[in-house]
Amino acid sequence: MTASTADFGREAGAGLSDDELPAYAPMLAAFHRTCASDLQKIIADLPIKPGARVLDMACGDGAYSLWLAERVGPTGSVIGVDRSTAYLDVAREQARSSPLSPIISFQQGDIAELPFADDSFDLVWCAHSLYSLPDPVAALHELRRVASVGGHVAILENDTLHHHLLPWPAELELAVRSAQLDALEADVDGSGKFYIGRDLCRVFDMVDLSACCVTSYTIDHRAPLSADERSFLGAYLEDLGKRARPYMDVATRTAFDLLLRPYSSLYLLDRGDFFSSHLELVAVGTKQAEATLKERAIGG
Ligand SMILES: C[S@@+](CC[C@H](N)C(=O)[O-])C[C@H]1O[C@@H](n2cnc3c(N)ncnc32)[C@H](O)[C@@H]1O
Repeated sequence: MTASTADFGREAGAGLSDDELPAYAPMLAAFHRTCASDLQKIIADLPIKPGARVLDMACGDGAYSLWLAERVGPTGSVIGVDRSTAYLDVAREQARSSPLSPIISFQQGDIAELPFADDSFDLVWCAHSLYSLPDPVAALHELRRVASVGGHVAILENDTLHHHLLPWPAELELAVRSAQLDALEADVDGSGKFYIGRDLCRVFDMVDLSACCVTSYTIDHRAPLSADERSFLGAYLEDLGKRARPYMDVATRTAFDLLLRPYSSLYLLDRGDFFSSHLELVAVGTKQAEATLKERAIGG
């Protein structure tokens, strides 16, 4: 059965019970497999040293926990935390076969109230999760609390409007993105947080995470696409279509269906010259001591 768009947005605790995997789980797993080397490069750039204590918040299937464990090595530790017991089972199973499994552990927890003392981690990592939460700023606050003074919080997110550069006509892209914006604005959660990539440093500033630095990464996909690339890109296009189609005019909908639906003979992903590039953004901020923050406030 194909998941509906509403299903795609359902998270543990928000319409999904903790022991169910979300509908997007197969797409995310395909993304991790097909982009593993690019995602590992992102992890390689994070400011962590061997021996560091790392929190992988909203760890999902634990793919990043394993890569983070490779960075910190046998003297470090990685704790993956998620609300979803279903995802934690997958993560534990995947970590079992890693030679670094002794330093990786998983536990259930809610980002709203983490079961850790202040200053517990040298790096707090959170991938593709913060902005699906009801209150991302409060969540970022909590991530900052558990980071050590001088330690870092790193967030991986996208910017909805500039997520995928696809080989479709520019006029169609503009019309589809405009319909997508209308759809997101009609969403009860509001659209602002879907366009967060461009605003990450501003939000870091709001929770006193200083020296925020955003790095962009592009990941390319070209024909012939692997099964995982097709699964990841196909699910993205399907979700886009389900959200935006009701807001398209007839001409846009017709052109969209011709190029972006798998049953069409002109389906974009079947093109022999297919090329697309997608953008990932990583923001890293530092937790400073309260005294330093006060000095900064006094100094204006
Ligand atoms: C889009 S997935 C990302 C998972 C993983 N970080 C990755 O990139 O593969 C979002 C994750 O956030 C988790 N999550 C949602 N709400 C949460 C909450 N309030 N506290 C902790 N985890 C939560 C979900 O269970 C899910 O694993």
